[in-house]
Amino acid sequence: VPASAGSASAVPLRFEDGALLVLDQRALPAQERWIRCDSPEQVADCIRTLAVRGAPAIGVAAAYGMALASDRPAVAALLLDTRPTAVNLAWAIERCLKAADPLAEAHRIHAEQEQADRRLAAAGADRFREGDRVLTHCNAGALATAGFGTAGGVLLAAWELGRLELVWVGETRPLLQGARLTAWELRRAGVPHRVIADAAAGGLIAQGLADRVVVGADRIAANGDVANKVGTYPLAVLAARHDVPFYVAAPLSTIDPATPDGARIPIEERAPEEVSETSAAYNPAFDVTPAALVTAIFTEAGVLEPPYEESIARARPR
Ligand code: MRU
Repeated sequence: VPASAGSASAVPLRFEDGALLVLDQRALPAQERWIRCDSPEQVADCIRTLAVRGAPAIGVAAAYGMALASDRPAVAALLLDTRPTAVNLAWAIERCLKAADPLAEAHRIHAEQEQADRRLAAAGADRFREGDRVLTHCNAGALATAGFGTAGGVLLAAWELGRLELVWVGETRPLLQGARLTAWELRRAGVPHRVIADAAAGGLIAQGLADRVVVGADRIAANGDVANKVGTYPLAVLAARHDVPFYVAAPLSTIDPATPDGARIPIEERAPEEVSETSAAYNPAFDVTPAALVTAIFTEAGVLEPPYEESIARARPR
């Protein structure tokens, strides 16, 4: 089944004939290969190895994994253990643990994601102006949410409004979610874009070639600190230095009122071989951007602005 079947947005997963089908994002863009998961163990493997990735999409995948479980508490523990940073995972698993019918709940979580994405994309695109050149990092499009995309959805909505001239796509070392996945999505949507080496962002922003930065999030703490793909924090510092708005696009399910600040967000450390085959390496998958560097957070409940303790508490009460 081509990932493009029947819709403009890429489709990273679907539940069909009692199994979860996962588009293997490790093989993109070279190949569109699907993995059939008949068991929660196979779903956990797909999440751990990044066949499916992106905070909301792993939440949706885990929810379907719960629907395949016979021993729900054991499967919840297995799925929870796959990746520590994205809070959508724990949030979706918790919902399915409590639900009378976990499959119906998984379908609900999936459908709600699509609606949240559409709303936050419209709220975010409203901040854009004709001719904007926008820098993004990692992949926060449909592949990362199983909906319309968060930061990627904002870009598509801005493009539809005629307000987007160009997307600068940070390649996103070491696994190239930008160069492989975001570029693939933008090509399919016909949105003008150019891939840059992550290290090129500084010079580009200093030259005034980016009017805004928009990224997704894996977890937003109660004070507005944002964990996202490693390399996000340096972009926020650059944006602040050069007076460029720095936006975060995320559904309310990515906000974790139980995590008071960014220092308390667990940061996943992945295998050193992803960075270097020949030398010892350090491979944190995420970094934390302090709330003070975030201009606004686009959510389905509208645009949140500082002070974030207050705007977050109003939008996502504990
Ligand atoms: O390691 P990944 O590819 O799962 O990291 C994904 C990101 O950092 C995304 O920006 C984030 O999950 C938001 S996705 C809408």
